[in-house]
Amino acid sequence: MRAIVFRDYGGPDVLELSERPEPEYGGDEVLIRVAAASVNPIDARLRAGEMKWMLPGGFPRIPGYDVAGTVVAAGDRTDFRPGERVVAFLDHLYGGAYAELAVCSADSMIPLRDGVPFDEAAAIPLAASTALQSLRDHGKMESGDRVLINGASGGVGAFAVQIAAAYGATVTAVAGGDNEQFVRDLGAAEFLDYKQSDFTQSDQKWDVIFDAAGKSSFEQAKAVLTEDGRYVTTEPSLKNAAVSLLSWPRDQQSKVMLAQSRAEDLTELMRLYDAGQLKVTIARRFPLAEAAAAHRMLENDSFRGKIVLTVEEAAA
Ligand SMILES: NC(=O)c1ccc[n+]([C@@H]2O[C@H](COP(=O)([O-])OP(=O)(O)OC[C@H]3O[C@@H](n4cnc5c(N)ncnc54)[C@H](OP(=O)(O)O)[C@@H]3O)[C@@H](O)[C@H]2O)c1
Repeated sequence: MRAIVFRDYGGPDVLELSERPEPEYGGDEVLIRVAAASVNPIDARLRAGEMKWMLPGGFPRIPGYDVAGTVVAAGDRTDFRPGERVVAFLDHLYGGAYAELAVCSADSMIPLRDGVPFDEAAAIPLAASTALQSLRDHGKMESGDRVLINGASGGVGAFAVQIAAAYGATVTAVAGGDNEQFVRDLGAAEFLDYKQSDFTQSDQKWDVIFDAAGKSSFEQAKAVLTEDGRYVTTEPSLKNAAVSLLSWPRDQQSKVMLAQSRAEDLTELMRLYDAGQLKVTIARRFPLAEAAAAHRMLENDSFRGKIVLTVEEAAA
């Protein structure tokens, strides 16, 4: 099969199109013909070697965790059938999405109804699961809560604004000024421009602060959290993890989230999608072979929503 691989850590240019053996599958695993895969910052951070203390070796590696496509074959312990349309949040540590074929456990993927474009479906798993798990599980968000989303125009943030609004929260979106109308259209009631003001210096308070961009700290945000407010960040630094542990017995809590691939969360996200409450914004589509250009855009440009790789000619 054709796949994008990297054989050592480095910049986007280490990503190359290559011929690789088809991945093996069995038991509860499913072999998927990939129609579209999406690009997440974690793909670039792993490629650059930022997480090599956590995930060493494994070369040549195929990046990516988000896939939409069609089942080719399935192990004997799954109910998936060849030809079925699916969306998957790959649960293999090293990913494997930037390829013509990928393997996923049955409990990390769900059937995809006809009519959902593959490229939109592929944009959802990692970023929207991060948003859902951060707000619902770590932030304990309830209807009526005041929720602030920092980094609201990015891949995770744009989903978070919509999920918070769908669950009945009043959303303050923090993004660059150019994105005010974009995040209001997603459901934000209030807007703050991070280039003009610092939300941690605001005279307002929020029940949940979700830093999707991972740019603030609990120490700074405490002053603008309600008495039993919850602060959730996507930035898995050792410092944030330590603060998370220390805040556990206190009323105001800090959590570092680590996204989990779960079929039930994909089901909930596709329910919101079908209800028109989770719209997908695709910043740009690249053919698989141009994965390096997609990573350059991810790392250097300001954009709204998600970057997607299309693997078949017609990702529809
Ligand atoms: N822990 C986990 O499990 C997990 C899961 C998913 C993602 N993440 C992490 O979460 C972060 C966001 O992911 P993503 O997919 O949303 O990335 P993304 O699509 O690149 O979006 C990042 C957003 O952050 C905004 N931003 C940049 N600097 C900011 C600042 N100083 N204040 C507020 N916002 C700022 C950007 O806005 P501009 O366009 O205006 O610069 C952009 O909208 C990444 O660091 C990623 O690694 C972690």
